[in-house]
Amino acid sequence: MSTPLRFVVVGLGARSRTWLRVMQASPDVQIVGLADPSPAARDAALKLLPDATVAAEISKLTQMVEADVALLVTPPGGREGQIEACLAAKLDILAEKPLADDVSSAARHVRAAEAAGRTLIVGLNFRFLPVTVALKQALNAGIVGAPEFARFTYERWRDGQLPHLNKYPLVMDHPMLWEQSIHHFDLMRHVYGKEVTRIHARTFNPSWSMYRGDANVFALLEFDGGLHVSYQGTWAGGVDRLDFDWRTDCTEGVLIQREMFGDLVMARRHDTSFKPVPTLPHEPWITDAAALLEMAVAAFRGTGPVLCSGRDHLQSLLMLAACIRSSDRRAPVEIEELRQEIIQPEDTP
Ligand SMILES: NC(=O)c1ccc[n+]([C@@H]2O[C@H](COP(=O)([O-])OP(=O)(O)OC[C@H]3O[C@@H](n4cnc5c(N)ncnc54)[C@H](O)[C@@H]3O)[C@@H](O)[C@H]2O)c1
Repeated sequence: MSTPLRFVVVGLGARSRTWLRVMQASPDVQIVGLADPSPAARDAALKLLPDATVAAEISKLTQMVEADVALLVTPPGGREGQIEACLAAKLDILAEKPLADDVSSAARHVRAAEAAGRTLIVGLNFRFLPVTVALKQALNAGIVGAPEFARFTYERWRDGQLPHLNKYPLVMDHPMLWEQSIHHFDLMRHVYGKEVTRIHARTFNPSWSMYRGDANVFALLEFDGGLHVSYQGTWAGGVDRLDFDWRTDCTEGVLIQREMFGDLVMARRHDTSFKPVPTLPHEPWITDAAALLEMAVAAFRGTGPVLCSGRDHLQSLLMLAACIRSSDRRAPVEIEELRQEIIQPEDTP
C-alpha cells in the first residue's frame, strides 16, 4: 500500500465538514494541517483532528508543516494568495468549485499551476454520483440512440440564512450561476461529451428572493453537433422544496433523471411506461466526494488521469460568463467570443 498523501485543508466552513469526514475515512490521505482565519472554525476542526497543525492562513501553515496537497474549501473569490502560497510550497491543489468568481481569475490560477508544474483539480463531485455514471454510460452505449435535445430543471427554495449553510452567496452578483448552475453545466458537458457553442440566457431575481444577486437562470444552450438544452434553475422557487428533472430526448427514446441523486429511467419511443436504469448504491455527498478524492489522489500520484482539471473547468466557467453577457445584451452569445476575450490573449506564450 502507498504512503498516504499529506493534505492541508484550507477553509473550515460548511463544505469542509463533508471533506473532513471523507478524508478521515480514506487510507490514502493524512490530514496534517488546517487553515482558517476564524478561531471558532479552527477549534471545531481541531476537535476532529487534534494532531493537526493549525494556522489562520495557508501561507503561515506551509511554513509550519510539510504537505503534498492542499484542499481549498474557501469561498471562490480572493483565492489568489492561497493559490500562490500553495504553489510556492510545491503543493498540488484540489479546489472546490467554482475555481474563482470570474473567468479571468480562474484562468490565472490555471496558468500559475501549470507554470509551477503542479496539478490543479476542481472538485466536481456530481460527476462521481452513481446516477451520473449510469447516465453517461447509457448515453455512450446508445441504449436509446443519440441525444438531440434535453430539458434540465432545478427548482429549489434555498434558505441562505440557515446556520449550516455558507453566507457569502447572499451577496454575490450571480449566486445561482456561480454556486449551483456550475455543477449543472459541468454535468451536461461531462455526460454529453460535447462543448457548448452558443447560449441565449436571461438571469433575474424574483421579488421574494433573499439573494442580492440573480437567483434565477433561464438558458437555451446549443452544443456542438446540434444538441439543444433548455435549462431552468432557481434558488428562489415559490415553494420550500427541491425539484430536479433532467430529460434527454434521443433518436430512439428518452433518458430521465428524476432526482438530484438518482431515479434514472428510460423509455423507447413507443413504450407505455418508464423502465428504471440501475445505479450503484450510494450515500449522498459522501460516496461522490470519496470517489472524487480517489480520482484526485491517483492523479496527484501520477497513477491515474486528471478528470476535472482546472483547464477543463474554464470551459464551464465560460458558460456562466456567457449567460451573464447574453442576459445583459438580450441576445445569444457565442462561447468563442468570450474565450478569445478572456482566455486566449493571456495564454499565448
Ligand atoms: N461541491 C459541492 O457540493 C459544494 C457544496 C458546498 C460548497 N461548495 C464549495 O466549497 C467552497 C466553500 O464553501 P463553504 O460552504 O464551505 O463556505 P463557508 O463560508 O461555509 O466556509 C468557508 C470558510 O473559508 C474560510 N476562509 C475564508 N478566507 C480564507 C482564507 N484566506 N484562508 C483560509 N480560510 C478562509 C472562512 O473563514 C470559512 O470558514 C465554495 O467554493 C463552495 O462553492 C461545494
